[in-house]
Amino acid sequence: MEISNLFSHLKLPQVKFNRINLPKLDLSSINLSKMPKLKIGSSTAKLPIVQGGMGVGISLSNLAASVAEAGGIGVIAANSIGMLDPEYYAKNKDANSILLRREIRRAREKTDGIIGVNIMVAVDDFQDLLDVAIEEKADMVFLGAGLPIKGIPVERLRAADVKVVPIVSSGRAASLIFRSWARSYGDIPDGVVVEGPMAGGHLGFKPEQLDDPDFKLEILIPDVVEAVKPFMSQFSRNIPVIAAGGIFSGSDIHKFYRLGASGVQMGSRFVATEECDADVRFKEAYVACKKEDIGIIKSPVGMPGRAITGQFLKDAAAGKIKVKCAWKCLKSCDLKVSGYCISLALDNARKGILEQGFAFCGSNAYRIKKIVAVKSLLGELKSQYLLAEKRGIRSLWNEYEAALDNLFSIKSEHALILRNNLITMRDEYGKNFESKAALLREEYDRLAEKLVPLKLDYQKAASKANLLKDEISALFERQPVIKRFNRLKAF
Ligand SMILES: Cc1cc2nc3c(=O)[nH]c(=O)nc-3n(C[C@H](O)[C@H](O)[C@H](O)COP(=O)(O)O)c2cc1C
Repeated sequence: MEISNLFSHLKLPQVKFNRINLPKLDLSSINLSKMPKLKIGSSTAKLPIVQGGMGVGISLSNLAASVAEAGGIGVIAANSIGMLDPEYYAKNKDANSILLRREIRRAREKTDGIIGVNIMVAVDDFQDLLDVAIEEKADMVFLGAGLPIKGIPVERLRAADVKVVPIVSSGRAASLIFRSWARSYGDIPDGVVVEGPMAGGHLGFKPEQLDDPDFKLEILIPDVVEAVKPFMSQFSRNIPVIAAGGIFSGSDIHKFYRLGASGVQMGSRFVATEECDADVRFKEAYVACKKEDIGIIKSPVGMPGRAITGQFLKDAAAGKIKVKCAWKCLKSCDLKVSGYCISLALDNARKGILEQGFAFCGSNAYRIKKIVAVKSLLGELKSQYLLAEKRGIRSLWNEYEAALDNLFSIKSEHALILRNNLITMRDEYGKNFESKAALLREEYDRLAEKLVPLKLDYQKAASKANLLKDEISALFERQPVIKRFNRLKAF
């Protein structure tokens, strides 16, 4: 046999080493002085933080204006707001519209910042409250406890530039709302709050879903981000997804940002602020509560709710509460089943009469240790966020460098096998083919085979490095002072 024929079977396995362009990172040049802004339609908040609407009477003009003034989005809770009026039982639901108007105006007098209104879809005077928000040109409305699909006055909302942000607890609910809007109104909402099972207040989950890992906020956020994507491209608009429920620190905010959220909504932390509109005894109940004091209640709204549990709820369950109903504010409320009026119980709690009511709170409320000013809370969240961002970049960078080291070593191993072994063996094979051919051929094949998984390893490692590189680039894009990819270095 011709030696050249023999060689024709011995094609050296080749690996294509794709070039990877490396961003050059200089951590000292990263200016971490700002959190990302939150843009909802025509409104842009300096901080990506929405203060969740908290009824009854917990977030009114004072809290909302303080948050808005400090750069976040302040939200007035509309449901049963009329209870602030001692004549509520005489005025019935008209009191809600009157007081909501008053609170929006008061907030406007205090700040030019962004003011929203939270309205529960399930309340009987939903349309009246929405009308007030439109007439008073609130910057946005957050619509929860039900799906805001039917009878939404989209044209009037648009004319008054009132943005609409539904509150959902799944990608499915978000799809349903966006699809229905697109079909019925040829329009879509401006953002979406995703409230997970760790939130305070009413929860859009079945009791058994609350501790189910499949319903964690970390799972829900990417789910909702995916659900709104097709509508973003259909309407060429950005739809910010806002994470809510159990968010406590700036590093929590950072975590949800990394998962695709554009901002967060927080409730409990804003309760324990000097500016919160509730009585100081309500706030102190937060500071005093322990983890085991926080429990799940069955609300007359027909949903579970999270609250600081106490004697009142035990008495209500035992049917010991005298029930007084003003005008059946909740469509779904059945007093015989609920055993108490939730609006009255929440209003009593707001006034600090906790023996005759209860305080809604998020799962992390027990971690709150003191009542602080809104500005200092936001300052704390901001520094924690920025620290997490810096740490995130550093650890991502370390991971990236480790991935590159791995690539280098795979590449060198490949080169070593190829040059030092295969090529010499092939030459030796040529020289000694008569005597040692079979043995050498076996050895050669064995080594050549080793290159196949090596090549796969390399490809995997290369794609991991590329992914990390993309992530780093995305982080860099959020850094205003950093020039992305200062210099490109070829690998
Ligand atoms: C005291 C209290 C009252 C609330 N009232 C309402 C409400 O009226 N409407 C609503 O949509 N959400 C309400 N929420 C939910 C908040 O807006 C927010 O989404 C939630 O508190 C986020 O969870 P966190 O408390 O763990 O931050 C309430 C929450 C609390 C703690």
